[in-house]
Amino acid sequence: MSDSAVLAVPPDTKKDPARRMSEAAAATCDQIVTPAVYADPPTLDAAFKRLRAEDPLAWCEPEGFRPFWAVTKHADIMDVSRQNQLFTNGQREMLSYHEAEKGVYAKFGQPHLLKTLVQLDDPSHYKLRHLTQEWFMPQNVKKRDDAVRSIAKQYVDRMEDLGGECDFQRDIALYYPLRVIMQILGVPESDEPMMLKLTQEIFGAQDEDLMRDKSLAEERDVEKGLASIQATLAEFFMYFTNITADRRANPKDDVSTVIANGMIDGEPIGQLEAMSYYIITAAAGHDTTSASTGGGVLAMLQSPSELKKMMDDPKGMSRTAVDEAIRWTTPVKHFMRTAQDDYTLRGKNILKGESLLLCYPSGNRDEEVFDDPYSFKADRSPNKLISFGYGGHMCLGMHLARLEMQAIYEELFSRVKSIELAGEPSFIKANFVGGPKSIPVRYRF
Ligand code: HEM
Repeated sequence: MSDSAVLAVPPDTKKDPARRMSEAAAATCDQIVTPAVYADPPTLDAAFKRLRAEDPLAWCEPEGFRPFWAVTKHADIMDVSRQNQLFTNGQREMLSYHEAEKGVYAKFGQPHLLKTLVQLDDPSHYKLRHLTQEWFMPQNVKKRDDAVRSIAKQYVDRMEDLGGECDFQRDIALYYPLRVIMQILGVPESDEPMMLKLTQEIFGAQDEDLMRDKSLAEERDVEKGLASIQATLAEFFMYFTNITADRRANPKDDVSTVIANGMIDGEPIGQLEAMSYYIITAAAGHDTTSASTGGGVLAMLQSPSELKKMMDDPKGMSRTAVDEAIRWTTPVKHFMRTAQDDYTLRGKNILKGESLLLCYPSGNRDEEVFDDPYSFKADRSPNKLISFGYGGHMCLGMHLARLEMQAIYEELFSRVKSIELAGEPSFIKANFVGGPKSIPVRYRF
């Protein structure tokens, strides 16, 4: 598809009279878009279970959003994701309130403020992804093994220093992947608190505890919301403009150097493209891995037999336990695609211009693919998790994420003598990227 399609304005109509919601869709569509429901796993699981059983490709018209097809079966998520020419990202890559979408168009004349990989289609997407793809391949990521393990050790040391009780999510899982991705980008440790705040404001922006402007929790004010996200992006821009200048003058062995000196069609990478690249790497590389690191630990603490398997053989178990943690938590809750032509799926006609919500948490609980999907099994194998997506946009950082999680699980479970929950866990209210917010733990080294 050409990039010009990215500029198509979304229709203003909320309901399409030619479409009708099924009973299952009418009962669940507001739930699957509501950030707070993602902080309540049993309610979310029940909504997706019903959709998979009764209307697996469901036409949804939730209040406040443009309509879409909810794709809830694992096979269908893969089918749509692998067809990157037919189902594109540029027009609508994620859920956003219709008022907010219209606000962005009115202000910027296009659907996005940035040009990140997830918002682009080929040919631009391919060219930009190609710049760093090699860097994130397994053989290259493996070279970071010692560096990543040394950071994992620092964070388990920190847990030991905290003296027997801590909040595993807030004290450990939140910071560890941040340090890894910042080291890969070449951002000094002293700038991490700012980076943490900025990435959380972008990804966790629906949770009142993580918002820049807390008043947005009560009122949905488009102007204020846009101003808030622009303020966050401006801070990122300022920071990475300096990084670009530095890496052009003094190249280093980091991803920022690859981005800053990247060439597209024989020309130096544009400023917006470079900024967007830093932002997607910083943001995508952090909250996702924090969520699944904590999510896996929480699942094991709630399932003593699985915790025992991990404690008995941390090295032998870490590979399968990590994939299961990423399936279980499903940190990225959705991405969207827009059909560039009519297509028939599950006997229904998807029309050109309609959008599709890829419901990863549902694909990861699909009874047709996973044995006993609602149980966490540290030794699940094979594990056809769909958490990293599929096709041309499949997660660039998945090998890094796996390495990071294996490193900290091996370090933690080979050193800790006992570990248990010390209070009620809680979850982030976000329909895009989220997982545990708090995991109080008690332990002995
Ligand atoms: C894309 C999940 C960690 C960088 C994606 C996508 C998903 C995802 C679902 C979209 C796939 C699609 O549309 O088919 C995850 C999960 C992670 C994780 C669950 C951790 C457990 C990371 C890390 C990085 C990263 C550590 C670090 C660089 C990216 C980038 C993209 C992406 C750059 C955009 C790729 C593209 O559009 O071509 N990720 N991710 N992710 N991820 Fe990750």
